[in-house]
Amino acid sequence: MSQIRFHFSAPRGAAEDLYRRLEAEFEEDGLPLALVEADEAEAIFEVSVYAEPDGDAEPRIRRILDEAGAGVALEREAMPDIDWVSHTLAGLKPVRAGRVLVHGAHDRDKREDGDIAIEIEAGLAFGTGHHGTTAGCLEMLQKILQAERPRDALDLGTGSAVLAIAVARLAGIPVLATDIDPVATEVAARNVALNGATALVECVTAAGFDHPRLAGDRQFDLIVANILAGPLMELAPQMARHAPAGGSLVLSGILDRQADDVVAAYTAQGFRHVETLHREGWSTIHLKR
Ligand SMILES: C[S@@+](CC[C@H](N)C(=O)[O-])C[C@H]1O[C@@H](n2cnc3c(N)ncnc32)[C@H](O)[C@@H]1O
Repeated sequence: MSQIRFHFSAPRGAAEDLYRRLEAEFEEDGLPLALVEADEAEAIFEVSVYAEPDGDAEPRIRRILDEAGAGVALEREAMPDIDWVSHTLAGLKPVRAGRVLVHGAHDRDKREDGDIAIEIEAGLAFGTGHHGTTAGCLEMLQKILQAERPRDALDLGTGSAVLAIAVARLAGIPVLATDIDPVATEVAARNVALNGATALVECVTAAGFDHPRLAGDRQFDLIVANILAGPLMELAPQMARHAPAGGSLVLSGILDRQADDVVAAYTAQGFRHVETLHREGWSTIHLKR
């Protein structure tokens, strides 16, 4: 049966407060929640609770919203069951970024000798390789992996897992792939299996670094995070704790005009700016700690 996503939007402070209240309410039930920036300019955040359709989540969410005097409109959306056949890259051309070719099932014959071919069924997750941010990350990761030998990697905001699979295939190292959205994590795990990468890539649902697999400031030699400038700047202190000295960090999801602010937030945390790639108005930034 399809899951239901209950969601509402609110200004940042109110959204964070309501998210915390809902997190406490549903902690024992283990329902996944998400807090994502919906409108960066207006600092509007969207809170989602993913629940089974026959449960009691809706009245409990409404009670919390009433108690907080939130005055927000709660909406419900039936999550479509993922149809892996229709949600392929059908109609989209394969994307090449250096040695990496990202393609759908229908384009397996486009692989060439020497390609790192990644087959993606993006489904409801972001990351077909067509976006300037994903392509920028693929290019930057290949540059880094030509010069560095990381022992492990973190792909924070993995979406379809395209970057996690690319790193696993390029470097042959274990990759932890995380996403705040449980649907994306499901898609990610499916793609990891499709590409025979389950031995190296582990997919977990986590908001930022909030997960037992990231506890104790677990460090990764290579971190890639293609999310948005706002959350990336907020995560800077935590990124610094999870990156060892000499570790590389690739950040994307950053508009060109936001790049200086992001670099400043990270240099303040002890990172050094190495290089920025620009694609279609998006910046992909390489920093080293
Ligand atoms: C732009 S997509 C990137 C997907 C893929 N890594 C790529 O490069 O194509 C951003 C992903 O990050 C996830 N995300 C956003 N904020 C997050 C956070 N705070 N923690 C973990 N994941 C987050 C979103 O759900 C989404 O799947």
